[in-house]
Amino acid sequence: MDYEVAGTLIDEDRLARRVAELGKAISVDYNGRELIVIGILRGAVIFMADLVRAIDDNVDVSMDFMSVSSYGDSTKSSGVVRINKDLDNSIKDKDVLIVEDIVDTGLTLSYLRRVLMERGPKSLAICSLLDKKERRIADISVDYVGFDIPDLFVVGYGLDYSERWRNLRSVHSVEPTIEA
Ligand code: XMP
Ligand code: MG
Repeated sequence: MDYEVAGTLIDEDRLARRVAELGKAISVDYNGRELIVIGILRGAVIFMADLVRAIDDNVDVSMDFMSVSSYGDSTKSSGVVRINKDLDNSIKDKDVLIVEDIVDTGLTLSYLRRVLMERGPKSLAICSLLDKKERRIADISVDYVGFDIPDLFVVGYGLDYSERWRNLRSVHSVEPTIEA
């Protein structure tokens, strides 16, 4: 089955406005503190680039990245993730914010949260651009959410379908291409 980009779910303006709001909220919550922002590769990269620039300079921001993938069958999230690329720096006694593109079942983030908590951060919060709440399996609380979305597969603004369409400036749904 082939897929094509369908309608615009969230356009550039709405993305920009919401990212600015999230940045403000984070700026208030971490005022005067140091914050390690951890981007989950690769989907969160574009969102994170905009988000960190929406955080005021009263917060001392640094960035680190992790890459994870689900073990086994890609259609069924097992909840066990493999760390393909780990953080470069220690998070012990640090305030940490995980930045994710989308929370679906929540299995990936609940595993990641457990792994990172074992490293003894001072605090650990989660920010996700998108949240597909109706798909949730794991009981995970997301501290900062950009948009709640319905159960659609979405691409753009960092999100991909088989590595395509990450560069689109808006968030779109995809639909199967029907050949004539
Ligand atoms: P879980 O289910 O563990 O998985 O919360 C979250 C991860 O699943 C991917 N995902 C998507 N990626 N469009 C995407 O491009 C989507 O609609 C979508 N839904 C889930 C994503 O990698 C996320 O980190
Ligand atoms: Mg992802």
